[in-house]
Amino acid sequence: MPGKAVAVQAVFPADFWQVGTQIAAFMLERFQLDGKVALVTGGASGIGRETVKLLAEAGARVHIADLDLAQAQVLAAELKDAAAHACDVTSEAAVANLFSSLTRLDVLVNCAGIGLVGNIAETSLADFQRLFRVNVEGTFLVTRAALPLLLAARGSIVNIGSVAGLVGVKRRFAYCATKGAIHAMTRQLATDYPTEIRVNCIAPGTVDTAFVEGYLDKYHSHEKEKVRAELKQRQPMGRLGKPEEIAHLALYLCSPAADFMNGAILPIDGGWTAA
Ligand code: NAI
Repeated sequence: MPGKAVAVQAVFPADFWQVGTQIAAFMLERFQLDGKVALVTGGASGIGRETVKLLAEAGARVHIADLDLAQAQVLAAELKDAAAHACDVTSEAAVANLFSSLTRLDVLVNCAGIGLVGNIAETSLADFQRLFRVNVEGTFLVTRAALPLLLAARGSIVNIGSVAGLVGVKRRFAYCATKGAIHAMTRQLATDYPTEIRVNCIAPGTVDTAFVEGYLDKYHSHEKEKVRAELKQRQPMGRLGKPEEIAHLALYLCSPAADFMNGAILPIDGGWTAA
């Protein structure tokens, strides 16, 4: 319809599409990681896996470090530029071995983690120590090994904490303690290296991953659906988070768009901690 074409032209100036394309390119560039190198621990599953995929989509070369080498290799094979490494983050030797093959690192995502159900009376010393070894010592060992490369690149760290580090969660004594420690390490590092690197932490609510499925299988095998409904209900949005939703926040935090973000602990929890 000629009349309609005239009207459209009147509303949109001649250079509208060109300007629009420039804005889109600028916005995209803010989230691009072309030429960057990233390492994601616990990258074979769940939140780590979706983060690996998104960082790779944004243009980064991604190293996947996980206990589960087979799963990491399957994922790496799906991506344009990724490598899989068998690495137990609790082993100083394994972490040193991983870093012996890296010459550059712009982004570190500390995602490897495990959970435990139990109040203080139900928590054995062995389980308490196991949780601290993986969640806290693992984050310490990998971050310390990564530091020289991150300093050289003026890089960025994204730690995966938890709502459990922000508020008390019933019968998660050891888990809450480890996640509180990760939040504290995030703030401390941002204080020691305020201009050299950026360190931020994501505190997810309950997210639909193997981590939660394993918890339901282990502790609630006869009432899985009832407990799943309870988990959804404790988040005001009434649903579990999706791992890719956490990955998007991780991409933001390590991208140029977040250049003024440092030492922040960011809940992403369907409103849990706001209630
Ligand atoms: P997941 O169980 O799907 O993935 C965890 C990955 O870490 C697995 O691939 C596992 O092999 C790896 N891993 C475990 N121990 C390791 C070790 N010692 N060395 C290297 N890799 C190891 O779990 P999900 O849900 O993706 O959790 C990832 C992180 O997010 C964890 O730190 C968890 O505490 C945290 N988180 C998860 C939430 C959830 O509801 N799923 C909520 C809040 C935080």
